[in-house]
Amino acid sequence: MKDAACRIALLPGDGTGPEVIRAGRRVLEAAAEGAAAPWTLEEYPAGALYYRDHGQEWAPGAEQAARSADAILLGAVGWPGVSLPNGDIAGAGLIFGLRFGLDLYANVRPCRLYPGVRHRISGKWKEVWTPENVDFVIVRENTEGLYTPVRGALTRGGATEVAIDTRVTTRKGAERVIRYAFDLSRRRARGAPEDHVRRVTCVDKANVLRGCQFFREVFEEVGAEYADIQREYAYVDAFTQWMVRNPEHYDVVVTTNMFGDIVTDLAAVLQGGMGFAAGGNIGAAHAMFEPVHGSAPKHAGKNEINPFATFFAIEMMLRWLGDRHGDGRLTRQADRVESAISKVLASGTARTYDQGGTVSTSDAGERVAEAVRSEGRA
Ligand code: IPM
Ligand code: MN
Repeated sequence: MKDAACRIALLPGDGTGPEVIRAGRRVLEAAAEGAAAPWTLEEYPAGALYYRDHGQEWAPGAEQAARSADAILLGAVGWPGVSLPNGDIAGAGLIFGLRFGLDLYANVRPCRLYPGVRHRISGKWKEVWTPENVDFVIVRENTEGLYTPVRGALTRGGATEVAIDTRVTTRKGAERVIRYAFDLSRRRARGAPEDHVRRVTCVDKANVLRGCQFFREVFEEVGAEYADIQREYAYVDAFTQWMVRNPEHYDVVVTTNMFGDIVTDLAAVLQGGMGFAAGGNIGAAHAMFEPVHGSAPKHAGKNEINPFATFFAIEMMLRWLGDRHGDGRLTRQADRVESAISKVLASGTARTYDQGGTVSTSDAGERVAEAVRSEGRA
């Protein structure tokens, strides 16, 4: 067990980011009430708007502080019309700076529909997306693939004629994220909802792409070490329809960077929308947690954005810190946050606009914080 308290760096970022981080802070503080917190919070300004106003993406010292923290909680980055001189979105230095700089190779995105949460589509024959049916995790490779910064454009006489993005697959990159997926399947309580089988599905385009054939080869090699876990393959195009039609079949899904980016937004619809989608960017020694919705400029400043994705990100963060430092206090906090979230969701008393409700971001935060306190008293 670690002696000193863990340092958690909060990076609220842009748009709705500061609003959800403020609500999340209330939940974190509630989780620590009544005892010495096993963590300290530090907050740093950074992102696209900081860049617009100061000409750099990070406040002085913020990048180093975030990089040396035990965990990072990121709100969101990006703002329309604000980009870096090289054309990248301003805020890229946070999101990619940290993913690549801290080698956060696994982007872990759970997809679970909680009782009380509404989703927008219901089946005519049967309700396919029920809390019993939707409970899987997508593990997205996070440091290579099409996101490898090996790209460029050929500009002649002021006109761009060719642009190239290189899709890189390395043995190291594939192996570690695939291993992460199999280990995760082993840790999960029940396997796939359909049959309680532990199953890792490799999602790729191996019928066309050489990199995907290689990814599959590595998947076979690594998977052979896990005799208790079923191995399965799906082409990414077909997978999108199977995931929507039969979510109960999936336990853990592993895929490459760009495919993972796309399928996790689709998966979010199954769990009630982007307002519930949280992700952990996990490396061997560092991790960054975030709501996946982004800065959502059209909702910014209105105190209306759904903060539950941030609460789930907090739960993931506490659990990861608890495991990493062998500190049961953090794990118990994660359990309390999860239990509080699920009770508030089931009660339907904290529905934000996207759920057809009128509860504000800050009030949703207060409800969950209060529920966390009750868990502590129970
Ligand atoms: C995500 C986001 C990012 C990505 C953007 C903001 C660069 O869409 O985390 O899924 O493409 O990875
Ligand atoms: Mn995305």
